[in-house]
Amino acid sequence: MTQRLTPTILRFESLPSTNTEAARQAARGAHEGLCVVAREQTAGRGRRERSWVSPKDAGLYLSVVLRPRFEPRDWPLITLAAALAAREALSEVCGLEADIKWPNDLLAGGRKLCGILAETAEGARGRAVVLGVGVNLNERAFPEEIRGTATSVEGETGRAPDAEQLLAALLRALATRYEALHAPGGGDATLRDWEAHSTYARERRVSVRLAGESFEGTTRGLAPDGALRVETDAGTIRAVTAGDVTALRGIHMDGQD
Ligand code: BTN
Repeated sequence: MTQRLTPTILRFESLPSTNTEAARQAARGAHEGLCVVAREQTAGRGRRERSWVSPKDAGLYLSVVLRPRFEPRDWPLITLAAALAAREALSEVCGLEADIKWPNDLLAGGRKLCGILAETAEGARGRAVVLGVGVNLNERAFPEEIRGTATSVEGETGRAPDAEQLLAALLRALATRYEALHAPGGGDATLRDWEAHSTYARERRVSVRLAGESFEGTTRGLAPDGALRVETDAGTIRAVTAGDVTALRGIHMDGQD
């Protein structure tokens, strides 16, 4: 029988990072579904050691402890499922239809609305996944340097979102998507859904920045492990498992990120 993910919310006024706190709780044996929420983060983290600007009440900042019951090689699919869940919650509560940029950024009008950071934490109960989600709710405290590349729910819809409603919808959608990953064929279905909701999945001209090199190519869908397949201009398919993908002007003309 599938086990339902039942979140328990632990709230904080301020934290350095909800991911750090959730990882600390996971290492001490926290149960699956523990969700750490903070009104602000003083050292919010993003992918590839970037910071996540997290002023008070300007965003939704949360991290959920997960204890997946499938093989670690499939854990990258969790972040793809989380992007789908965040997209569904924003659509349901805010009427906002976001695009997904590989692997798990949500964009509106080509600018970043939501970021997801999955990390692992070791403890007596084994290895857990800490899934952190940050959604920009408004832009009042956006620093100058992200104004051109980031956006917010309020900026896109003209209305201040109800953060509590969005949190509840996000946790509901995440539970459904996470459960689906445990079902037979759930991984494949997640990959297909991700491809259906991302303009980056296929035929998109992109630039890929890896740790020691960059290249350009055209996207050719997801590999079974969630890697983005990119065909180089020399005709070779490369599977990108870690890196930054940026849209190039070409087939789609809407993105600068
Ligand atoms: C990214 O796009 O680079 C990922 C950003 C993830 C930000 C969230 S906010 C809640 C959680 N706590 C953190 O320190 N980071 C994640």
